[in-house]
Amino acid sequence: MFGKLLGKKSELIGQIMINAGMVNHHELRHALKIKRKEGGYIGATLIKLGYISKPDLTSALQEQLSHSIVPVSSKDLDTPQATEFYRLQTNVKFALFSDEPVKALMFTSSVPREGKSMTAAYFALVMANVMEKRTLIVDADLRHPSLDAHFGLNFPFGLCDVLVGSKTLEECIQNTEIRNLKILSCGTKPPNPAALLASKKMKSLVSQLKEKFDLILFDSSPIFPVADASILSANVDAAILVIQAGATRRKFVQRALDVLKDSNIKVLGSVLNRVEEQEMPGYSYHGGYR
Ligand SMILES: Nc1ncnc2c1ncn2[C@@H]1O[C@H](COP(=O)(O)OP(=O)(O)OP(=O)(O)O)[C@@H](O)[C@H]1O
Ligand SMILES: [Mg+2]
Repeated sequence: MFGKLLGKKSELIGQIMINAGMVNHHELRHALKIKRKEGGYIGATLIKLGYISKPDLTSALQEQLSHSIVPVSSKDLDTPQATEFYRLQTNVKFALFSDEPVKALMFTSSVPREGKSMTAAYFALVMANVMEKRTLIVDADLRHPSLDAHFGLNFPFGLCDVLVGSKTLEECIQNTEIRNLKILSCGTKPPNPAALLASKKMKSLVSQLKEKFDLILFDSSPIFPVADASILSANVDAAILVIQAGATRRKFVQRALDVLKDSNIKVLGSVLNRVEEQEMPGYSYHGGYR
């Protein structure tokens, strides 16, 4: 199932265009049909059909790579966005601090750019503040790290440096301006992210972190198109799936849930991101996704 999806690059590029609001599902389906008939690239087909312009395609793909990120800070604790995370925290806290506590929780999504890092950052902010627990947020998206930017930081060392043994954990864990919240950035981007996440060192590092912190939140890659998130899931206790409202196709969400199920990871629930409420981008939590 996973292999089949890896072959469907056109669908993923189409999904990126949908997430960027540049095409709708009907237009994408039409373009995919034409592309199947005539061959070529999906981007070129969308341009030929007049659904997007070349600059549209370039900017959507560039937006994939670059981030226009507004960092979170303790000032955000009083914002309407944070309110949704207080709700999320209420919904998941029983699972987090039960007899069999979820200490390591990952945030993932089916495809890129659904809001994983921002969701993880807000959740960390609220958890550290409300629960008064020693919280660590880890950038485990080794191909597209962005947590530093989400906290307004720029630190060169982190998870990867600890995993390859060039730095100690103590040298890499940084304080944030938020009480009870520390961060482990991605650090030096590796040539082999999947191997690093699958390593014995990663497993023992997570155990070590569980001794030091009450809660460890992992910002991860999307489930598709690379296997990193499912590899990471073997080392954590549960996952939350972030879904971009009104954009991500149901079948991608379903396939992502299937992958998580095959990995035997407990899915605590899903966060519907960018729900338009009172003209404000927002979030809503839905429990019980299995
Ligand atoms: N609810 C929201 N309201 C406003 N902006 C948002 C919201 N969610 C995400 N964004 C913005 O969208 C961009 C992508 O979000 P984010 O980096 O969290 O996505 P991601 O899923 O982690 O992406 P990637 O797959 O590249 O790691 C960022 O610039 C972020 O600030
Ligand atoms: Mg991210």
